[in-house]
Amino acid sequence: TERSVQVKLVLLGEAAVGKSSIVLRFVSNEFQANKEPTIGAAFLTQKCRLEDRVLRYEIWDTAGQERFHSLAPMYYRNAQAAVVVYDVTKASSLEKAKTWVKELQRQANPNIVIALAGNKIDLVTPPTSTSKSSTSTESEDEADDATATPGENAGAAAGEPENLRQVPRDEAEAYAQEAGLLFFETSAKTGEGVVEIFTEIAKKIPIE
Ligand code: GTP
Ligand code: MG
Repeated sequence: TERSVQVKLVLLGEAAVGKSSIVLRFVSNEFQANKEPTIGAAFLTQKCRLEDRVLRYEIWDTAGQERFHSLAPMYYRNAQAAVVVYDVTKASSLEKAKTWVKELQRQANPNIVIALAGNKIDLVTPPTSTSKSSTSTESEDEADDATATPGENAGAAAGEPENLRQVPRDEAEAYAQEAGLLFFETSAKTGEGVVEIFTEIAKKIPIE
């Protein structure tokens, strides 16, 4: 028979970074362009299937507005996992994420698995690719590229959307590594990277 573990997970982060949208994408595979702010917190569940087991996530989606900050400990107190979200187009949201991480590391379960997620990468050019290309094809010859244009910035062509990125991926990833967090860039709008957050966390949850 299949093992099924319940995993209590909490989402934290500044208002409007997309916490509820990430959950909606994970649970219903949907997106709402004008999602209303969360009041207090919302509770949702979703199964997550790994090769050897199934987890049932019990998700507490907290409200990011400052007036709800004092409620957060109720939701992270017994959590086994946390997703701390920031918005890659808003530098201050990473600073807020760091304060949540510090609070979790001081006050939450010492074994809590924490993931940092930089959301809204659909607003950023060039889009980051999800594949980490774990398969190394050594014999992949690079064809002699006669069309290389030295000194030309190919991404600066006219007509491309403005690059709204305020948080460099490298900077956030370096912080995450230093702090011992899983790291993802995501888009609740396109779905990029969203399921990965939950499956990578699941792999870190010990089998009971
Ligand atoms: P609070 O509940 O107030 O803490 O906000 P939240 O973090 O839950 O944010 P929410 O999911 O409500 O999203 C805020 C706004 O950003 C909404 O208008 C969403 O449609 C939009 N949004 C969320 N995720 C994305 C994304 O990945 N890309 C884009 N372009 N917009 C997004
Ligand atoms: Mg919300």
